[in-house]
Amino acid sequence: MKPQMIRVGLLGFGTVGVGVFRMMRDNADSITRHIGFPATITRIGVHDLSKPREFAFAGLTDDLQSIVNDPEIDVIIEVIGGVSPARELIETALNNKKHVITANKELIAKHGAALMKKAAGHSLDLHFEAAVGGGIPLVQPLKHQLAGNDVLKMMGILNGTTNYILTQMAEKKQSLDVALKEAQELGYAEADPTSDVEGFDAQYKLAILSTIAFSQEIPVDEVYREGIMKITADDIHFARILGYRIKILGIVEAFPEGILARVHPVLLPRRFPLANVHDVYNAVQIRGDFVGDVILSGRGAGSAPTASSVIGDLIDVGRNIRLGGAGNVTMPESDGLPLLPIEKLETAYYLRMLVDDQPKVLGSIATRLGEYGVSLSAMEMRVVSEKDKIGEIVFLTHICNEGMFRKAISVLESEPVVKEICSWIRVES
Ligand code: HSE
Repeated sequence: MKPQMIRVGLLGFGTVGVGVFRMMRDNADSITRHIGFPATITRIGVHDLSKPREFAFAGLTDDLQSIVNDPEIDVIIEVIGGVSPARELIETALNNKKHVITANKELIAKHGAALMKKAAGHSLDLHFEAAVGGGIPLVQPLKHQLAGNDVLKMMGILNGTTNYILTQMAEKKQSLDVALKEAQELGYAEADPTSDVEGFDAQYKLAILSTIAFSQEIPVDEVYREGIMKITADDIHFARILGYRIKILGIVEAFPEGILARVHPVLLPRRFPLANVHDVYNAVQIRGDFVGDVILSGRGAGSAPTASSVIGDLIDVGRNIRLGGAGNVTMPESDGLPLLPIEKLETAYYLRMLVDDQPKVLGSIATRLGEYGVSLSAMEMRVVSEKDKIGEIVFLTHICNEGMFRKAISVLESEPVVKEICSWIRVES
């Protein structure tokens, strides 16, 4: 007999868990209308029972196993984060024939394929819309409405914390540390914000989106990654002078010889839509062969937007339970295209360095770069020290090969006229 109510076990009662709790309470009527049954949280599992909480809840326990083993529960919502114990708890829940909704990007990026297989084997739903892009519908549109397209390229701002930090640095001249502290206070950052600022969080998200978009498993460690820790006020200043904004993007492209997936800071021309996505907002631009460009944008982190995605998934699961649906996950078996290393990338670059401020220096640097196929398209310069004759120069290059560009940089590093290579950042043009 079909249940007349969806009973939910919530694992985790932190930022996202509280959002889910509030949305299920405040929007209970519309959730019931959409599913056709009411959905109610019957138990909540937390790590530390003694922690002060915004909401009292009678079914609070620190025995998380007892929730995934509870025969009365139909759906598990996992919002604890991290691989362990989330993975074991989800596996037990699936073995016990419970549908699962998770916001856990690290877990899905690293073990999503195996979990999807297990869920499919039991004809269960495993949904993870909240794992990518907070409140923006991204996973479901890629799985459904856009799935008929061959995805040619996808690029997006996938981390709210770093977009908030870069916006604060550019607009308010704040330091990275101060802006990060604010992002933590606003509930955007991960428990360990290294995951945000070093690009791991965006790497997980890009691996998940790419796996769905290309219908082949994109291993997370084959997604190239750089964070924002080396971005300075000077880079933001020069980028602005040259007509760009600095964002950290996840970009994946399909080439005949393979797929290249990467997360790193990028100079974006100010007129580009993604250059105008600020603060905690995320946005993803998807180019499909038939649909053309689609841009999906919204709040990429925070309690309420992430809860919105979780509840969307819950409604989907609820409908499947009501109608006897057979689950909604598929994982392709084929290996698909190989993953390409970053050295294969063809792009333009921004390059900032300190040099001797004397005749022929510019020419000698341009000649060195030219020997590796790197040709210059724009330049800015300022005197740093008249006394020591030190100048700071910034180049933009034409599109060239990353492997060759890296070689050129290592040669420049040992040129006597080059005092320091301060930074280089890829340019999306
Ligand atoms: N720390 C993440 C971010 C949370 O800032 O985007 C949402 O996944």
